[in-house]
Amino acid sequence: MLRLLVLALTCTAAAQEPLRFSREHSDYGLPNANAIWLPYSSNADHCCNQIWRAMYLAECVPRDVGGALPQEHSEPAEFFVPGWYFTKRQGVERDRHLFGGDGRQMPVEGFARANSKQLLVWLQQVDGDVLRELKTRPRAAVWFQHDLLRLARRLLDTKQNPELIEPLLHCAHRVALPKSVLQSDAVRTASARDVAAQLKNFDLAKSVEVQRRSSRLFDAEYVQLWSSIYLTSPGQDRKAIAAWLASGKGRAPLAMHSTALLLQGIVAVDDAGAPCATDLVIEARTQRLSNREPLAFDNPTTTRDGVDFAMWSLPRTAVRDMDAATTAVPFAAFRSIDMNSQELFRDYGSLKHTTYAAQCALCHRRSNTPDSAIAGFSALRLSSKPRVAMAAERKRQAEGEMLRFLDKLRSK
Ligand code: HEC
Repeated sequence: MLRLLVLALTCTAAAQEPLRFSREHSDYGLPNANAIWLPYSSNADHCCNQIWRAMYLAECVPRDVGGALPQEHSEPAEFFVPGWYFTKRQGVERDRHLFGGDGRQMPVEGFARANSKQLLVWLQQVDGDVLRELKTRPRAAVWFQHDLLRLARRLLDTKQNPELIEPLLHCAHRVALPKSVLQSDAVRTASARDVAAQLKNFDLAKSVEVQRRSSRLFDAEYVQLWSSIYLTSPGQDRKAIAAWLASGKGRAPLAMHSTALLLQGIVAVDDAGAPCATDLVIEARTQRLSNREPLAFDNPTTTRDGVDFAMWSLPRTAVRDMDAATTAVPFAAFRSIDMNSQELFRDYGSLKHTTYAAQCALCHRRSNTPDSAIAGFSALRLSSKPRVAMAAERKRQAEGEMLRFLDKLRSK
């Protein structure tokens, strides 16, 4: 009896190994090698879990190591000076870590021969009963398809493992759901209204959705996601914000405490092979202009020059067991990402290990940029031609972009 109890306790302890390192750890936020990740099934050996693991957990030496990592700098007063977010050094063997996890950043760049062969076997297993069961969980099916297509995109970008492109595409077609399901609440997660309701100082009714020329980071041809940006400015109604957007050259600086909400959701492929922008939102980010004080270590904002960020990412496990009848996913199911936590960022170029704060400040800084009047709110650049978006415009645009990607894949 006692032995059984001890065994039960050890099993629980093993199951409860934290997925990521905690705040006190020097690798805060990176995946824990002893954790058990079960994104697509409670059965660890399920082929979808195996495929996911091959993509989202990778041990490697980063090409760049950010100076913002706690062990890379000493006194904050000396480190957080203009340009802090640029500081980095080349990665060396002792920088080798396990990266990734159930999030958005995919660390893998390609596979050795044996691993590619193994991946092919797992891809073939996504068929028959496994496939039928996966399709009873529409959110998991859509997300898994997204992961397959993302890997195909990555391999096109890194020019590795051409032998995997066709099997990935075929598997993505096998898991595809009918358009009627993709357009229904069966795949819905949190909407802009759900997210905004949980934010302080963000009234969606007083915001406008911003249409703009998307950069590559937000083009579904490259990221297989649609993205919507909503902007609010204190004391301004929709008309006033629209007028500001339209005022072009010579417009007033962005109002203090303006906030942008960015949502990103999956563009799926339906069972007829057509792109379909779904309501499966997987990430939310906010950006707020908090002050226009100079950059300094004690400017209490993410960028240290007045701009604050927040970010929430939906773990796959949160929707893993939801069937078609589940209609609501609370915003509380999203994981809040601490800006001081760490990640290996690959989507922004080369493999770079740094903090979220440093990565976000790189493109969204307020000072030392020609964009200081818009405080690093990139979508508001005049060159992006920002204007008020029409209903569903972003989703239709993303479907067109996705089609370009699918055409490219199918021609391989
Ligand atoms: C490589 C540059 C780059 C990095 C790094 C980056 N972004 Fe952005 N971000 C952009 C661009 C460009 C846009 C404008 C959207 C578009 O092009 O469609 C944007 C838009 C946004 C917006 C909408 C408001 C705005 O500025 O237009 C938010 C919020 C945002 N990003 C948050 C973040 C967060 C949080 C991070 C850190 C994880 C981050 N970004 C990292 C380039 C970047």
